[in-house]
Amino acid sequence: MNPREFAKRRRQLMRMIGKGGVALLPAATPKIRNRDVQYYYRQDSDFFYLTGFTEPDALLVLAPGRAAGEYLLFCRERDRERETWDGARAGPEGAVEDFAADDAFPISDVDDIVPGIIEQCDRVYYTIGLNPDFDQRVMSWVGALRGRGGAHTPDEFIALDHLLHDLRLYKSRAEISAMRRAAKIAIAAHRRAMARCRPGLFEYEIEAEYTHEFRRQGARLSYLPIVGSGPNSCVLHYHANDRQLEDGDLLLADVGCESDYYASDVTRTWPVNGHFTDEQRAIYELVLEAQDAALEQIAPRKHWNDPHEAAVEVITGGLRKLGLLQGGVKTLIRDRAYKRFFMHRTGHWLGLDVHDVGDYRIAEHWRMLEPGMALTVEPGIYIPPKSRGIPKKWWGIGVRIEDDVVVTRDGHDLLTRGLPRTAEEVEALVGADAI
Ligand code: GLY
Ligand code: MN
Ligand code: MN
Repeated sequence: MNPREFAKRRRQLMRMIGKGGVALLPAATPKIRNRDVQYYYRQDSDFFYLTGFTEPDALLVLAPGRAAGEYLLFCRERDRERETWDGARAGPEGAVEDFAADDAFPISDVDDIVPGIIEQCDRVYYTIGLNPDFDQRVMSWVGALRGRGGAHTPDEFIALDHLLHDLRLYKSRAEISAMRRAAKIAIAAHRRAMARCRPGLFEYEIEAEYTHEFRRQGARLSYLPIVGSGPNSCVLHYHANDRQLEDGDLLLADVGCESDYYASDVTRTWPVNGHFTDEQRAIYELVLEAQDAALEQIAPRKHWNDPHEAAVEVITGGLRKLGLLQGGVKTLIRDRAYKRFFMHRTGHWLGLDVHDVGDYRIAEHWRMLEPGMALTVEPGIYIPPKSRGIPKKWWGIGVRIEDDVVVTRDGHDLLTRGLPRTAEEVEALVGADAI
């Protein structure tokens, strides 16, 4: 991403903070998986959003109007020995030269430098509770100032995330193009997985088609992949991905990727043998109709909940027609009877995080959709085996269809356009490249 993009974000945030404020934001902490093995390191989304800096052990300080520099980075020093093991470091020199910091210091100097900066400010913008170690540190800096007679201490602590997350909710052109790329790679991966599918494969072999395509294009999984066949299609957070696909099964694959830090989140459901049974098709068509109804509600001035309400209405009416719910549609909706089969919401914000930041309500009201907001649209119906009172022919049918959209000035743009969505398109692709 262009360095000017990061500079613009910092300027926007600093305008919100104003003179006399200082924002503190630590980098993500590396996490141990087991003994000497770490999880793949990924920078904190907020930290990345403001800096583009991807190393651990760093601290961002933004102090609008500070004469000696507004944008400060603390980071690891260059170290020939450590760099042999772990790879190159920017060092404070690189933080200034390559990441446009006004000034940069070794991370080991924070205790000497940051309290003096805080002392000159009235308001500290910092989100408490996310990083207990760093919370302690910030408190010790303020405590030390208080203990020092005559030192000025800030009057206010303000959560940084409210301001920052509102900024992140509105995607710029550069962000939308990064998200379009993440969606495009996911489309290629879903196509590949569908085309290579056949009964007899294991779920993990389908998962491998996704990771193959992601890595081939320089992307990674953006969340734990869900590849659930037969009864597993009804388990919302199914991750074992180790069952063998049987003829007649549906397969639900919720797999997205992260490219340049931006996520896609895409689900397709298909019959592993390439032909929906009548019952599978009926549920599939219903979920598709719900998704179309939800998509129609995505435009400026619509509210966050409108797509969900449209999906609920279609699904409730459809389940009643199929005999899976009994009663009047209005009553069924009021009593949330649909939740037995459609137990999640129709979407969430999407961006640097799969479940991206941003408030869904403002005070009592659902938020209004505005250009630049990105979200998923993902209705589903799940009928697990042994569902009481439900005829057996419906058991083991779990369908979700999930696409990614961004709100535009006159409607929305479907980022995942081009991936088969109708039952016919899906049937035509499944097994086309099976070996
Ligand atoms: N893959 C997570 C979700 O659909 O929200
Ligand atoms: Mn999702
Ligand atoms: Mn998903």
